[in-house]
Amino acid sequence: MKKIIANIVGARPNIMKIAPILKAYKKYPHLKPVIIHTGQHYDDNLSGVFLREFGISKLDYHLNVGSGSWAEQIGETLKALEQTLQNIRPDLVVVVGDVNSTLAGAITAKHLGLHVAHVEAGLRSFDLTMPEEINRMIVDRISDLLFVTEKDASANLKKEGVAKKKIHFVGNVMIDALQYIFPKRKEKNGRIRSRPFAVLTLHRPSNVDDKHTLQKIASILKKVAQMGIEVIFPVHPRTKKNIETFYLQNQFRDLTIVPPLSYGQFITLISDARFVLTDSGGIQEEASWLRIPCLTMRKNTERPITVKKGTNTLVDLHEDVILANVKKIMGGRYKKGQRLPLWDGKAAERVVKKINDYLRYQSTR
Ligand code: UD1
Repeated sequence: MKKIIANIVGARPNIMKIAPILKAYKKYPHLKPVIIHTGQHYDDNLSGVFLREFGISKLDYHLNVGSGSWAEQIGETLKALEQTLQNIRPDLVVVVGDVNSTLAGAITAKHLGLHVAHVEAGLRSFDLTMPEEINRMIVDRISDLLFVTEKDASANLKKEGVAKKKIHFVGNVMIDALQYIFPKRKEKNGRIRSRPFAVLTLHRPSNVDDKHTLQKIASILKKVAQMGIEVIFPVHPRTKKNIETFYLQNQFRDLTIVPPLSYGQFITLISDARFVLTDSGGIQEEASWLRIPCLTMRKNTERPITVKKGTNTLVDLHEDVILANVKKIMGGRYKKGQRLPLWDGKAAERVVKKINDYLRYQSTR
């Protein structure tokens, strides 16, 4: 009999993480993957475009939960998932990353007595003001299979008392996705810019939900632009809304503001940039793999390998540190980064092999 695996996605970064896993299931005809999209992200440029890019032509279930307060979003997702998972009765539920849909997926599955696999487990910023940190801790505590991208993540889980046999160091599925998209896009990259450029992304509530913080960021970015660097800013809907609500449009006028990009467009853009300025988690990894300098506008990172071995530096919102690093980058004096263990495009194959072994073992018990 086929084993049913429910794969839950909700927000933009989930799609590129699940796509390589969906591809890897194909080697195992007795595994039947089912895709559930919660609808946390509903704009086409945060969801539909990514599904098309990765050839995910059909979602088995779309729950349309949408936005709202934290409790509304989580509550709606729990209700919709409970019914869906009860109908499907999967042998395993796979959740990826750390977004609200990841949390809702893991909790619902566990309440229904289902097995749960968490891809990208064990990452810790040790900052409980980040919604994602709370999500990560809870999801890891209740998952049965924990797939980690870096050794520090395994160590975090062991310190928290997770049994060693549940933890699997498999590498980074997002780098699988990057390697799949990147060669295709590279050939198509037409536009060469006359000025050196940097790419900026900003969406963390701690950076964009407070007017004064957002103003401070705008003033730092203005100084970067004054160094003769074009700052290209694909703006997240949350950030766009706040810039408008706080009437800060004028303060961001020195930047090249563009709508959110597709994955291929974004990866191609950062691969040609002199550096990236970001508060995202995943971009720290992508820039490190591409060996593009990454200045992360946060106090901490849950992805320490990107700082230790990659191209990432935590700069928080310190203007002097940011400008000093920009000068280093432009002067060719910034660190180059190294190859990262198991970020080799085969992580999803390892994930699915372990899933298959796990399900075989469960059925013999
Ligand atoms: C979410 C994730 C974050 C991830 C990011 C990637 C959580 C806690 N956060 O943040 O980890 O890095 O996605 O984008 O899950 N909105 C739209 N259109 C959409 C979706 C959202 O306009 O398709 C707006 C809504 O006004 C919404 C706001 O963005 O209130 C925030 O959306 P939400 O899903 O809560 O979190 P993100 O900031 O997108």
